[in-house]
Amino acid sequence: MKINFHTNRFENIKTDVLILPIFEGMKKLPAALSFLEKHILPSFEILLKRIVQEKKGNKKITVYSTHAGFPLIILLGMGKTDDWSLEKARQLWGSFVLTGRELQQKKIAVYWDNGYPETEHSGWFIGEAVSALYTAGYSVNEFLTDKTELEPEIEKVDLLYPDAPKQLEKQIKNGIAIGGSINLTRRLAEYPSNLMTPSIFVEEVRHLGKENNWTLEILDEKRLQEKGLGALLAVAQGSENPPYLAIAAYEHPEAKKTIAMVGKGVTFDSGGISIKPSKNMEEMKYDISGAAAVLGALRCITHSKLPLRALAVMPLVENMPSGGAIRPGDIVRSYSGKYIEIINTDAEGRLILADALSYVEKNYQPDIIVDLATLTGSVVVALGHVVAGIMTENSGLLHMLQEAAGISGEKIWQLPLWDEYKEMMKSKIADIPNISNKAGAGTITAAIFLKFFVEKTAWAHLDIAGTAYGMPEKSYRPEGATGFGVKLLWHLARLLPEDQDKKAGGL
Ligand code: BES
Ligand code: MN
Ligand code: ZN
Repeated sequence: MKINFHTNRFENIKTDVLILPIFEGMKKLPAALSFLEKHILPSFEILLKRIVQEKKGNKKITVYSTHAGFPLIILLGMGKTDDWSLEKARQLWGSFVLTGRELQQKKIAVYWDNGYPETEHSGWFIGEAVSALYTAGYSVNEFLTDKTELEPEIEKVDLLYPDAPKQLEKQIKNGIAIGGSINLTRRLAEYPSNLMTPSIFVEEVRHLGKENNWTLEILDEKRLQEKGLGALLAVAQGSENPPYLAIAAYEHPEAKKTIAMVGKGVTFDSGGISIKPSKNMEEMKYDISGAAAVLGALRCITHSKLPLRALAVMPLVENMPSGGAIRPGDIVRSYSGKYIEIINTDAEGRLILADALSYVEKNYQPDIIVDLATLTGSVVVALGHVVAGIMTENSGLLHMLQEAAGISGEKIWQLPLWDEYKEMMKSKIADIPNISNKAGAGTITAAIFLKFFVEKTAWAHLDIAGTAYGMPEKSYRPEGATGFGVKLLWHLARLLPEDQDKKAGGL
């Protein structure tokens, strides 16, 4: 999708459909569009009255015009301006694309000006809006041989913005980088497990690495054995598909800080010997969502040249039952040297994350570590498919992530890591068991396990089992993989160097 923006000479533009949002109180056509007045019937004044009279304020009116460049105009009734928000803006801009596609059109134009209501965090409005344009139309359709039923892709968006803010171009670029990265993450997570094995994912990393000039460290099975990442290897040993630890690094020449973004990359989670019930087991292809999110975030950070060093750390395995699989009761030695008693082979995500966390902390000395993982079903019980659980003991990091979430719309909610929960993670025979010995607080005890493997670095854990897929559908977020976390991490990476300048944040 190509986006062109215009601040004047709108009469020379050629599009298939112009979409014009109408808020309550708008009495006439914006001056910049007055050249259209003589090309339509009835007059705009009458049409606007009709829209405003609608009680719900959501009426859509289709207008045909005799202007060659604007054959079709859609007036979108938006109702009142007082409950306008960034979230509503995302929904509206996503709906522009869906409207164009429903009309079987490939080129849409969108009108906006500073007379329209302003959102909170108004500096982020255009970026969020453009990103919504990009993510609204996205779906994995390469496995449908008959594409005749699919609506056409929008090829071009002309943005008509007469009094555009100076930063518009930069904001549009940002929005494109963000939207494209979310779509990348969605595709990687949406792909079925037979076509997104650990080695195929590694190929994606290599390909993106070339494109973005990243430094890669990719440990294959042999290197993992040499280096002793025993917890990661234990999960992989039941699968025919060999494991990897992939680390991709972006570094700005003036980088002072390093953020490590660690993502759970289980390409399929059958549960292993502690096998899952068959109902909904196909959803476990999404167990790679953490790795997909950190890779998307790194792409986005790179495209916007943020002034720091950023690492995407992706432990990649498949969790399968077989004659060679780990058993409940097995004890494995992790990269840290700590021994883990495996009670349940379905608690595999924390095992691969344990090794990834200690490996990146020891070998890359990051300033902060954030991990994203579809880690527990319990987080869905607690918070549903609405908000991710965040667990951290670092208030600076928490605040930055909360600020990020306030802009990006990816909601997070804190769960505690109190000492009482530590008591639930005790093994008689090894340093730590992989699941708790009591019922309840499954999301928290999983985080307590991870914390055991982070020695000293500021660290936050996001459990995205409820938000990586299955969230309520919105125009900008079709069903399936959501790409949750890409924007959060991008904002965090943006805030981190600022934070260092202000010497704030308590890191
Ligand atoms: N990948 C699952 C968590 C999950 C469950 C994600 C449902 C999305 C939807 C994870 O590996 C897992 O199996 N966790 C277990 C942990 C338990 C064995 C302590 C769970 O949540 O049941
Ligand atoms: Mn599992
Ligand atoms: Zn899992």
